[in-house]
Amino acid sequence: MRRFRRLRGSEAMRKLVRETRISAEEMIYPIFIIEGENIKNPIASMPGVYQYSIDRMDELLEKVKAAGIAGVLIFGIPAEKDEVGSQAYHPNGITQRAIRHIKENYPELLVIADVCLCEYTSHGHCGLVDGCHILNDETLPLLAKMSVTLAEAGADIIAPSDMMDGRVGAIREALDENGFKNIPIMAYSAKFASGYYGPFRDAAHSAPQFGDRRSYQMDVANKREALREIADDIEEGADMYIVKPALAYLDVVEAAAQRFDLPIAVYNVSGEYAMVKAAAQMGWIDEKRIVMENLIAMKRAGATILITYHALDVAKWLKEA
Ligand code: PBG
Ligand code: ZN
Repeated sequence: MRRFRRLRGSEAMRKLVRETRISAEEMIYPIFIIEGENIKNPIASMPGVYQYSIDRMDELLEKVKAAGIAGVLIFGIPAEKDEVGSQAYHPNGITQRAIRHIKENYPELLVIADVCLCEYTSHGHCGLVDGCHILNDETLPLLAKMSVTLAEAGADIIAPSDMMDGRVGAIREALDENGFKNIPIMAYSAKFASGYYGPFRDAAHSAPQFGDRRSYQMDVANKREALREIADDIEEGADMYIVKPALAYLDVVEAAAQRFDLPIAVYNVSGEYAMVKAAAQMGWIDEKRIVMENLIAMKRAGATILITYHALDVAKWLKEA
């Protein structure tokens, strides 16, 4: 008789035949850096996540380094916003200064720089606006300029999340022209217009002041279109791509993994994190078990890289195991 249970008899046996594993070195931890001094602001909807000012960042970075996490995905929150997001591409903007601080003090950590205007614009949209229309082609030079300033500050990877068409090509060209031929692009290629970004917009002060992002982020119903977006970004020069959010989109991750041979990152976003934390705080679920199960599911679907707010907790659990 075929007995599947033969290979389930002990933890040692189960570990031997395990098909999917999680490690700290494939995880990226998103961080929020805010203008000002001596700030460590808790984010109500994301328990355990804080906004830090640059002078308090070390507290966090020491933990990330000790945990063996691959790197950080950085989001800057400027003191001033305007129509055109000037602080996004200012050589001494909050994000550029934070990147310099990390690379000077923690050279072994990978710094992934998110490229988008929404944290820096007064209207909170990811591109320039004309009335209630979000402009595509006019936004591209600003994203390209922002990418160059982030690379100059020391970013190891450029990650455009704006969802304007043609941005990967525009950014690749600008990086190449400015001496950054070897800086890879991790494109948020399949980024859906999702309700799961709510807590992030509190953390990054990036909620749109009018309308929503449905004219540039993807419709949640579309899987084949996601594959076209990814194919297009690869053609424009993406070295890796992101599927975002994670859990409700694992079918997209799996289909993409079968079709393309580039590394895939999944972004386990703020709303997914908030749901797990809330249920755990109520005592309704076993947090560690649920988080590990969720992350394993992402890897099983085909993810190479996990971008997750759970990274510090997971690294700690892995060490205990
Ligand atoms: C900005 C950006 C967003 C996220 C990452 N980059 C928010 C958005 O598009 O509204 C979401 C991350 C999260 O929810 O954890 N373009
Ligand atoms: Zn944005």
